[in-house]
Amino acid sequence: MAKRSQKQEIFNSRNYFILAAIGSAVGLGNIWRFPYVAFKNGGGAFILPYLVALLAAGIPLLFFDYALGHRYRGSAPLVLRRMGKWTEALGWWQVMVCVTIAIYYAAVVAWAGSYTVFSFNQAWGDDPAKFLMNDFLHVAETPGVGFDFVPSLVGPMLIVWSVVLVTIALGVNKGLAFANLVFMPLLVIMFVVLVLQALFLPGAAEGLNALFTPNWSALGDPGVWSAAFGQIFFSLSVGFGIMLTYASYLKRRTDLTGSGLVVGFSNSGFELLAGIGVFAALGFMASQAGASVDQVAGGGITLAFVAFPTIISQAPFGALMGVLFFGSLTVAGITSMLSILEVIVAAVRDKVHIAKPIATLIIGIQMAIDSISLLSTRTGLYFLDITDEFVNKYGILAGALACIVAVAWIVRKLPVLKRHLNRFSSFPAGTIWLVMVGVLAPVVLGYMLITDLLEKLRKPYEDYPLHLLNVYGWGMSLSLVVAGVLLTFIPWRRAIKTDFDEYHNEHEVSA
Ligand code: ALA
Repeated sequence: MAKRSQKQEIFNSRNYFILAAIGSAVGLGNIWRFPYVAFKNGGGAFILPYLVALLAAGIPLLFFDYALGHRYRGSAPLVLRRMGKWTEALGWWQVMVCVTIAIYYAAVVAWAGSYTVFSFNQAWGDDPAKFLMNDFLHVAETPGVGFDFVPSLVGPMLIVWSVVLVTIALGVNKGLAFANLVFMPLLVIMFVVLVLQALFLPGAAEGLNALFTPNWSALGDPGVWSAAFGQIFFSLSVGFGIMLTYASYLKRRTDLTGSGLVVGFSNSGFELLAGIGVFAALGFMASQAGASVDQVAGGGITLAFVAFPTIISQAPFGALMGVLFFGSLTVAGITSMLSILEVIVAAVRDKVHIAKPIATLIIGIQMAIDSISLLSTRTGLYFLDITDEFVNKYGILAGALACIVAVAWIVRKLPVLKRHLNRFSSFPAGTIWLVMVGVLAPVVLGYMLITDLLEKLRKPYEDYPLHLLNVYGWGMSLSLVVAGVLLTFIPWRRAIKTDFDEYHNEHEVSA
């Protein structure tokens, strides 16, 4: 029989929530993903699709996640269960996306932490690419699935997992809010100093020219628009349970839309700052090498772990720059990882009705073991590369699309959510919000997914062997959906109330 619902955790202040939400949004996606995505997709001209994506989908869906979490009070599966029996699986799908992201996100944060230490003596020597692949990650020459351990990678990952799990177990105020109160000002200070240092390097102007010179013809390419929407989803942490879970910890009378605007614009401000800092540094690197910026600007992991070490070795006060860059990446990554873990722990705690520290311990230890077994190996980089690509598309975007369609068109709760948003908010969610969430977002997401799917079927992603793509890519994406459905069969060990006011009359926390 269902038990009485346990007491909901509540942020002591709205500012804690805003700080934690910005901490979640600002992450690896801002510091190294945004600069190269912008550069690859039209440079200065990318700002236009980026702004359209932010205003037409990012912020409206941030409001959507906030309204869901705040009105239906709970983790993603509980919120969606409160709307209908079958919709619960969509919540677990989002949780499974977070499980997958956390497994590799921890590794990138651990590598950034290691590189913060390496920066002091530039341990990568004269050849950062060789150091990364051979001496640090010991990457297997042939892409494959394997469990060939690299013991030196285990320690940093254990530290990352321990910090994250202890913080989550301490609860939303003593853990999450406190960690963000410490880490976010530290991140802002480190990052502003880094950008200033980069701007004073010789050649910085060339880098900024490369980033901001608009290639207007790129606007005619649908891929550029897809890239802008993809970047906004990942970067704002919308569509995979995070903002929904955080909003469930807010007091009743909270200005949801006002908070959303602060979070959305802070995230984009940080992203822009990251673009400026990274490209100023790349301009310096290009001028040292006598090459053009596009010759030195690698994507993804190469940009952070090869291009930056090269810059650090050549720049005046390079060690400082290294500590600031990799330190920022580590801190931004930790605050985002906290939010990803919170989605998982909250869901398990809600479903089986156990205390948070116990839920954190059970889930966390299992996940840390999986994460270390998969990523501290010579094939970990292949797992990271393939899974990241597939889970972003067929996890985050597909899961968000399914959730929006279910809520807007099947259970038809958008008008209820709109009223809920407008109850205590300063910025009204009008009919335009309904159109953006109910029509524009599903159309854009559907289009992006179909074009991406056709492209992947036409040409294997990065020309990886098919068996590897079948395991880490297609298989992994499909297993998240299957797991989402299977998890709904575990019985709820708590009451599932459906009404906001009924809930609040019992659990009112003064505003
Ligand atoms: N929003 C987080 C990031 O940008 C996940 O890394």
